[in-house]
Amino acid sequence: MKHLLTTADLTRADAISILDTAAQMAATQSREIKKLPTLRGRTVVNLFFEDSTRTRISFETAAKRLSADVINFSAKGSSVSKGESLKDTALTLQAMGADAVVIRHQSSGAPHTLATSGWVDSAVINAGDGMHQHPTQALLDAYTIRRHLSGERRDARDPAAAPLAGAGLGGDLTGLKVAIVGDVLHSRVARSNVQLLHTLGADVTLVAPPTLVPVGVEAWPCAVSYHLDEVLTDVQPDAVMMLRVQRERMSSAGGGFFPSPLEYTRNYGLDRRRLAHLPDHTIVMHPGPMNRGLEISAEAADSPRAVIVEQVANGVAVRMAVLYLLLAGDMSNQVPAQNVSS
Ligand code: CP
Repeated sequence: MKHLLTTADLTRADAISILDTAAQMAATQSREIKKLPTLRGRTVVNLFFEDSTRTRISFETAAKRLSADVINFSAKGSSVSKGESLKDTALTLQAMGADAVVIRHQSSGAPHTLATSGWVDSAVINAGDGMHQHPTQALLDAYTIRRHLSGERRDARDPAAAPLAGAGLGGDLTGLKVAIVGDVLHSRVARSNVQLLHTLGADVTLVAPPTLVPVGVEAWPCAVSYHLDEVLTDVQPDAVMMLRVQRERMSSAGGGFFPSPLEYTRNYGLDRRRLAHLPDHTIVMHPGPMNRGLEISAEAADSPRAVIVEQVANGVAVRMAVLYLLLAGDMSNQVPAQNVSS
């Protein structure tokens, strides 16, 4: 695989290879061996046409920990604001010898265009395109779920929990139940996660108001519900992933916020009362940035179940794995033990 554009392109073996490599990368970080020489002499360009905190910093950190040279490009303050096209921006990067381009763009499909246009020779990594895909977010989410919930770890957290059929065997998420809650309509995180979690064997339930469910969702490999309380009590999910309400996409699409914020919080917000319905082992996730008080209360976001900050930390190891596998390895390679320097 030359590019990472969508989780739909990942086989189960590809996904597990990335997660296993990320675990090895994380092990080097926890030994305080911060820098691997693997990508010395290679150049990674972060090409961000849309705002980002976590993804951009995480890719920059990951590339630097692999000893790559990093160029950060933001549309704001660049010649894009003078009308320069994606093509001419890409040709400029090609002239500068980029080995990988990490692209975030407001238009769904921009990373695919970049990868298939012939404008650049480099690997293209989708860091979020419109309402379409955010594959490294889904990978870091799967990595976080696996760390907390596969096999014996889940049993240790909640000895009374019913045993899972094969969870963790072979490193996948078979038998785990994941609820993804909120503004599914505008969420590239939801689209990437449904695909990847299904590939890894988890059972996904989407929960959203009818107005925030995409057309065609029946074809997605998941269940759909409009009732959060029912899902929390009946499904008893192992992980609850709250989605950000994307007010900026609602106004740019000409639509309003419906249901009203108050109604939304009442019916779909995660708060202390709803947390109490969940099994002890259930983790609470959010890709960030959060609207505290809207889709998630401060109590839920800061509760011991919340793994939101850990998701961010895991993103570095996952992005190191992706850069490593695309630029220095292949999907069956492991991180060589001798390839480590302090
Ligand atoms: N999760 C995520 O994509 O966050 P940023 O927009 O801050 O990168």
